[in-house]
Amino acid sequence: MKVFVLTGAGVSAESGLGTFRDKDGVWTKYDLNEVATPQGFARNPALVRDFYNARRANLAEARPNAAHEALARLEADLAKRGGELFLCTQNVDDLHEKAGCRRVIHMHGELAVTRCHHCEATWPDKGPLKPDTVCAACARDGGARPHVVWFGEIPLFMDQIEDALSAADLFVSIGTSGSVYPAAGFVAEARAMGIATCEINLEPSANAYVFDEKVYGPATEVVPAWVERLLARL
Ligand code: APR
Repeated sequence: MKVFVLTGAGVSAESGLGTFRDKDGVWTKYDLNEVATPQGFARNPALVRDFYNARRANLAEARPNAAHEALARLEADLAKRGGELFLCTQNVDDLHEKAGCRRVIHMHGELAVTRCHHCEATWPDKGPLKPDTVCAACARDGGARPHVVWFGEIPLFMDQIEDALSAADLFVSIGTSGSVYPAAGFVAEARAMGIATCEINLEPSANAYVFDEKVYGPATEVVPAWVERLLARL
């Protein structure tokens, strides 16, 4: 069985990493145009670096929760049975990896990776982004940015994602509000291809009506239970 799972900030909420659009979410505290767009970075790179440095500090303290662990179990069990989990996340945290997932597709990039704004080279980096960092690839400074896809930029791995989506037997969306495309459009694509769809979230998302199956509750409770039910059915 090939299962395509899309995760969003809700899967990491109970690990203490903020979501974006809930009440007191990240976008209620910061103007995304200032901290999550190329124009914002050009206008005020120091503000953008501070924003991501604060999120990197949070990430260093964060631990995977029962939902991340259940998805790692799902990946291992499916592989044992000749099946496959394609885990595509909108999240830039590394909690799926910390929970033991072996393949995680970060379509919005990764917070613990720095990218050179001049030459696009990337390197793992959990430390603070600094204005004077010299890029090892192009030897220029002043270009250190987070390897995160900003609004107006193209999400990563879209060819691989579309291939995996069309080959899936089941599409499951976990912990996302369904408000940012192209991720929010995956369920409609799956449905159009006759693929079964399931939404697992704290509450109905913007495109809840498109899903065949719906499971609501905190991810740490409903995701492990849903994984056990799926594995029992195989
Ligand atoms: N368990 C399950 N779901 C939860 C929990 C929880 N404990 N807490 C919150 N949620 C749900 C909310 O109900 C909401 O539907 O998680 C969803 C979070 O939605 P958003 O804050 O919009 O986050 P997300 O959907 O991941 O945002 C998508 O927008 O800002 C950009 O690039 C950023 O990747 C992000 C994208």
